[in-house]
Amino acid sequence: MNYLSIKDIDSLKDWVSEAKKLKENPREYTSLGQGKTICLLFFNNSLRTRLSTQKAAMNLGMEVMVMNFGSEGWQLEFGDGVIMNEGKSEHIKEAAKVVSQFCDIVAIRAFAGLRDKEADEAEVVLNGFVEYASIPIVNMESSVGHPLQALADAITLDEQHTKERPKVVLSWAPHPRALPHAVANSFVEMIHLQDADVVITHPEGYELDAAITKNIHIEYDQIKACENADFVYVKNWSSYKEYGKILSQDTNWMMTQEKLGNAKFMHCLPVRRNVVVEDAVLDGNQSLVIEQANNRTYAAQVVLKKILNEIN
Ligand code: CP
Repeated sequence: MNYLSIKDIDSLKDWVSEAKKLKENPREYTSLGQGKTICLLFFNNSLRTRLSTQKAAMNLGMEVMVMNFGSEGWQLEFGDGVIMNEGKSEHIKEAAKVVSQFCDIVAIRAFAGLRDKEADEAEVVLNGFVEYASIPIVNMESSVGHPLQALADAITLDEQHTKERPKVVLSWAPHPRALPHAVANSFVEMIHLQDADVVITHPEGYELDAAITKNIHIEYDQIKACENADFVYVKNWSSYKEYGKILSQDTNWMMTQEKLGNAKFMHCLPVRRNVVVEDAVLDGNQSLVIEQANNRTYAAQVVLKKILNEIN
């Protein structure tokens, strides 16, 4: 099996429950991954994904190889029939097959470029490995999705909810750089699988892909959206419609304690303090960000355990 998107989860409830059991006893299955190697390939920077996926693999007894492919690997060509007489030195066809010889699972991080919607949605790096590798693939954040983050967020919501049907708000916040839609997309895909009252709030022009948000209520008034919320998940993303553009840097959209009210605050991290969210929220006891990061290990571990069960 591959873990490429939230769609690869057959039962979110069961996966969350399994992850919570792994959290209670992370080293219970150390023999499962013995003699197996995972290769983590990073085309972009990371702190949490790199360390939590490595930790998850180590908890399962695996060997781990990490490569910063973006800065250390050969530049890859993905096109078919290309005459490779310019900058790119290696074709995905060889690279994926070579990687497959050295490990049993490959995990890949390759962000959206945010210049060409069609190219980003084609997920050339991730799908290149899917097509040419002969081993299971794990998505550590691709152009359009970050399913390990969303699975960790589902674990956090499960641990922290006090109501059967909580109100969950996904709020856009300002950011000085154009950021991808991957975290927001996977969060929305995950929240579709939950029994929750969901609202998305952002300035006009920041609508996410309607094929992902489907029938979720969009509220352009952030204060109204946050009223009586149980969880407020804050994230910046660039415009999807005017692809990759920053349309607003309105500082009024920064999350504050006042807007948060009694809700729990969630963010995938890294976060820019006093741009995306004010210090008082991050330093207060309603913030779940450190626990969300902690749950990244158990999200990755449940995914790797399922893959190991299949390939053993
Ligand atoms: N949330 C997340 O994926 O963090 P990193 O980018 O540091 O891995």
